Amino acid sequence: MVNTATKKIEQEGPITDQYLADPAQVREKLNALRSTEIASYLQYKQHAYMAVSMVGLAVAGEFIEHANEELQHADMLAKRVQALGGVPIFDPDEIAKCLRGMKITPEQGPTLHDMVQEDLELERTQVAIYSKLIREIGDKDIVTRRMLEEILEMTENHASEMHDLLQSRSETRGADGHR
Ligand SMILES: [Fe+2]
Ligand SMILES: [Fe+2]
Repeated sequence: MVNTATKKIEQEGPITDQYLADPAQVREKLNALRSTEIASYLQYKQHAYMAVSMVGLAVAGEFIEHANEELQHADMLAKRVQALGGVPIFDPDEIAKCLRGMKITPEQGPTLHDMVQEDLELERTQVAIYSKLIREIGDKDIVTRRMLEEILEMTENHASEMHDLLQSRSETRGADGHR
């Protein structure tokens, strides 16, 4: 016969008395962040499809690299949601609802410059959300925190790469005196 203690262990998996966060709340936030990664993936892929000029082709490579990393982030978040006893959201309507709540929509501007700017903007939004959640979690959920820090580092790198692209384009413009 299974006693109550064994049942509790079976239900709670890795969550012990030393897990100090609210697992439901953490799962909800991880799911919301995962929606932003899916939006970012879609946006980078779209930009890669549309970057067809000579300069654009070089940039498209970077868009694709980032898109693949966004999927990795979405996977990391989904696995953690599952480990914390939840279900990663997969209904497009629910994902869209999450994004609306955060005022995020994938964008596709008319020029390469616009697209890089949109990518920088989305990365910066994510940097802010990740940073805030890391501070909130503190030492209450160490493994989630470590994962979020890893994603945050990559997200800041993405932002800084998009920033560098914008800089190099404006330098060229400055030297030529025109676009
Ligand atoms: Fe990402
Ligand atoms: Fe990114």
